[in-house]
Amino acid sequence: MTRFADPQRIRSLIEGLDAFTATPGRGTTRLTYSPQFRAASDYLRAQMESAGLSVREDAIGNLVGRLEGRDPGLAPLLIGSHFDSVPNGGKFDGPAGVAAGIETAFLFRDHGLTPERPIEIIAMIEEEGTRFGGGLVASRILTGELDTASLGSLPDDDGITMAQAMAAYGLDPAQAGRAVRQPGSVHAFLELHIEQGPVLEAQGEDVGIVERIVGMAQLKVTFRGQAGHAGTTPMTARCDALVGAVAALSRLPGLAYAMGRDAVLTVGKLEVRPGGANVIPDRVTFTIDIRAPAEEVVRELIGQCRAVIGQAGGNGLTAEVEEQMFVAPTPLSPELHDRLLRNAGQLGLKSRTMVSGAGHDAMILAGFAPTGLVFVPSHKGISHAPEEWTDYGQLARGIDVIFTSACELTLPAGQAPASPRPAS
Ligand code: GLV
Ligand code: MN
Ligand code: MN
Repeated sequence: MTRFADPQRIRSLIEGLDAFTATPGRGTTRLTYSPQFRAASDYLRAQMESAGLSVREDAIGNLVGRLEGRDPGLAPLLIGSHFDSVPNGGKFDGPAGVAAGIETAFLFRDHGLTPERPIEIIAMIEEEGTRFGGGLVASRILTGELDTASLGSLPDDDGITMAQAMAAYGLDPAQAGRAVRQPGSVHAFLELHIEQGPVLEAQGEDVGIVERIVGMAQLKVTFRGQAGHAGTTPMTARCDALVGAVAALSRLPGLAYAMGRDAVLTVGKLEVRPGGANVIPDRVTFTIDIRAPAEEVVRELIGQCRAVIGQAGGNGLTAEVEEQMFVAPTPLSPELHDRLLRNAGQLGLKSRTMVSGAGHDAMILAGFAPTGLVFVPSHKGISHAPEEWTDYGQLARGIDVIFTSACELTLPAGQAPASPRPAS
């Protein structure tokens, strides 16, 4: 039983949003600034408006719905997550947190509540980095960590830069800097996310309250050789970029095994050019995603990867490593952690404190404003796959924690509504 949030309304929002995928029937594929992304943004705008929010698209395409406060000059409470996806992913990674924000706005409306300080619901772009690499792009721009002057040098796989894609989406890249928020301008950030792992479901728990997010890095590796004819070039005369890349690749997982200390390493993207069955490859690119709870482990693994890749170069092959992203392990606000945990308890929910192995916008915003992150169970722990699933009742229970905490953070003491939700 949920005390406040409406599972049917949440279901309708998430399933409505999931219509906007480039791969119908094969999971959710919604790349930042794609036609599906524009349609999803229009859909979310309508949802935010029906929850009573005034909606604007910021200078980089984040959608922001504002519930005005009695004092509009106070720094807003920000609630939300992202609405881009991985290739062939699931419908909850990101949208669950956007739905949490919009449902919170509906609940303020249903209960006739006006916050003292504004509440802004945010649906962010490019958290996954699927299109432009690195990830966490919206939060890195909002907090001033990523210089918007660099958007012209972030290409997608087709060579279209983020600045060019923004322009095609109807935004002016020269104005991107207007999306940057000033220090002190956000009161706090709350994000709800699916766990993406098996713990909560296995333990029969309703919510996880995150205290820390692991450190992570993403590298892009490029091997360059010489293209040539597959039939006429002797084996001794080749400079095959794929042979070098595979020599390095095959050693990489072993580095994380040998490291231990909960380190994980993934090569999830590999591209061979020019890509003809009878052409010796002249360019191979692949990504390396490295995560570990301890910063020195992530740094040590980056160094080891560089060494292995360097050894696979030579003999005419060049190998280049670009660090696309590095985020140190991030503690979230202890005050918000305790508040979220206490509110989960008061709602009668079973909860636990967790460390997140996944990256989230919360890990960037945590350096900018007090930040709290609530996990809800993922069925069988599956995520980044079409099978990703969270029961809507469980999602609603997590949203109850966000809503009651948002009430505490924005209403005068004693004004939070008593459950159950009134008929609307
Ligand atoms: C986001 O899903 C990440 O952890 O990479
Ligand atoms: Mn994800
Ligand atoms: Mn996510």
